[in-house]
Formats: sequence, C-alpha cells, structure tokens
Amino acid sequence: MKTNNKLKDNHLVDMNIHQFVKYSLVGALLLALASCGSDNRTPGRTFVPDMAYSRAYETYTKNPTFGSDSLAKVDSFEARKPVTGTIARGILPEQLVEDEKVLASYLYKSYSENTDSSYNAATNNLKNPFKPEKDVLDRGKYIYTIHCLVCHGEKGMGDGSIVQTEAYPPVPSYADRLPTISEGQMFHSITYGKNLMGSYSYVLSAEDRWKVIYYIQQIAKTGPFAAGVSAAAPADTTVTNN
Ligand code: HEC
Repeated sequence: MKTNNKLKDNHLVDMNIHQFVKYSLVGALLLALASCGSDNRTPGRTFVPDMAYSRAYETYTKNPTFGSDSLAKVDSFEARKPVTGTIARGILPEQLVEDEKVLASYLYKSYSENTDSSYNAATNNLKNPFKPEKDVLDRGKYIYTIHCLVCHGEKGMGDGSIVQTEAYPPVPSYADRLPTISEGQMFHSITYGKNLMGSYSYVLSAEDRWKVIYYIQQIAKTGPFAAGVSAAAPADTTVTNN
C-alpha cells in the first residue's frame, strides 16, 4: 500500500510540473506578443516604466525649479553651472592660493570682461605665479609649438607658416610688441584673443598661459629675459651675505 501511494504521489507531482511548464510557456508567449505594438517605431508597452524612464530629472532636461520657459530662453537646465569663482580642485597651485594676483588670473574670465579697461587694469591686477625656470620654459615651448608657432613663427618674428602662405595677414613680431605691453596684458590677450588672434582660454589652462608667456618673453628677449635683467636667474640661486 505504501509503495502504491508513493507512486501515485510522484505521478501527481510529474503532472503538475508538466502543466506548470506548459502554462508558463504559453503565458510568456502571450506576454511577449502583448508587448509588441502595431507601430514599429515605438518600443510598445513597457514593463515597469519607472525603470526605463527615470522619474528623476535628467542632466540636460528642464527642471521647473530653475525656470519654466523653454530651455533656449532661460537657463532651466537641471545641470547647473558652477557658482562664479569656482575653481576645480587641484587646478590652483597650492602654495599660491593666498596671492590675489594669482587668483585673479585663475578666475580671470569670471571677474574681468573683454574690454579695454580690463586690458589696462590687467597690468596691475595680474602676476605670473611661476619662476622662469627650465621646466616652466620647457612647458611653455611645448604649448607654443602646438598653438602659436603657426602664426608667430619659431623665433616670434611673426613669420609662421600660415603667414608665409599669405593666407593670413602679417603678425607683429614679439620683439617689437612685447616690450610695449605688460605680462598681465599678454595674459588678457591670450585669454580673450585680440583682433585677428583668437582666444586660448578654452584650450590652455591659466597655468599654461603663464608658462607660454615666459617662453615668448624668452624668444623675444624681453621681460625677465631682457639684457641686463637678473630676475631670469631663479631666486634661490642668489647668494646673499646675510
Ligand atoms: C592665427 C594666428 C595666431 C595664432 C595661432 C596666435 N596668435 Fe598671437 N597674435 C596674432 C595676431 C594677428 C596678433 C596681433 C593682434 C593685434 O594686435 O591686432 C597677435 C598678438 C599676440 C600678442 C600681443 C597681444 C597684445 O596685447 O598686443 C601676444 C602676447 C600673442 N599674440 C601671443 C600668442 C600666443 C601665446 C599664442 C599661442 C597660444 C598665439 N599668440 C597664437 C595671431 C596669432
């Protein structure tokens, strides 16, 4: 009797599994068919739409908290611009954080507009935070070769290849121009561009702009590299009697 019952039970279980598999397959097929829409261009019915379409605001969509107009009219992006004066971590040389003239150059576009008065004020407001040492000049030369050489020429004579083809009007020589302007004004011009020269603030960090300034002063033999100026020697090599 016992054995019979056991056989019977197993038989029942087998039946149930078969039925279960059969109905699940049919169910899955129906579900799959039901999710197909007649329009081939849409994905059809969506299962758990909250997962496919996030309920949180997406980065570049409109967020009503910041404005209800169209995106083109007001800045209603979910992604906010950094607050004026924000400096990315690690961008500012640590030992120079306290120097206002250095800060002013790293935040130049936030606080100084592309005007003649900013250009003139740059003379007193900005200062090259680096020393004209070998690694600084090497970096400056690297930047110069990539971005400036094509117009200004190898020695800064304004005879770069693009000028020689006459596709571009004459470029002033550094030896003539640089002694007449301050390093702050050079920084302003490289940041905002000047007349036919474009802006380099999008490709060069403030640090690289300062380094290339030393390099152009070096090839033009001006600024700290002018004949008779001893500042070209790194300060720490100066022997004092104290
Ligand atoms: C497409 C050609 C071109 C390139 C590339 C170019 N410049 Fe110039 N640059 C000029 C011209 C033209 C002027 C003269 C602008 C004027 O005063 O009308 C000039 C002027 C300058 C001046 C003098 C600005 C002043 O205030 O009088 C500096 C400094 C300078 N360039 C640096 C650079 C540096 C550094 C680079 C590379 C990062 C560079 N330029 C790349 C064409 C160029």
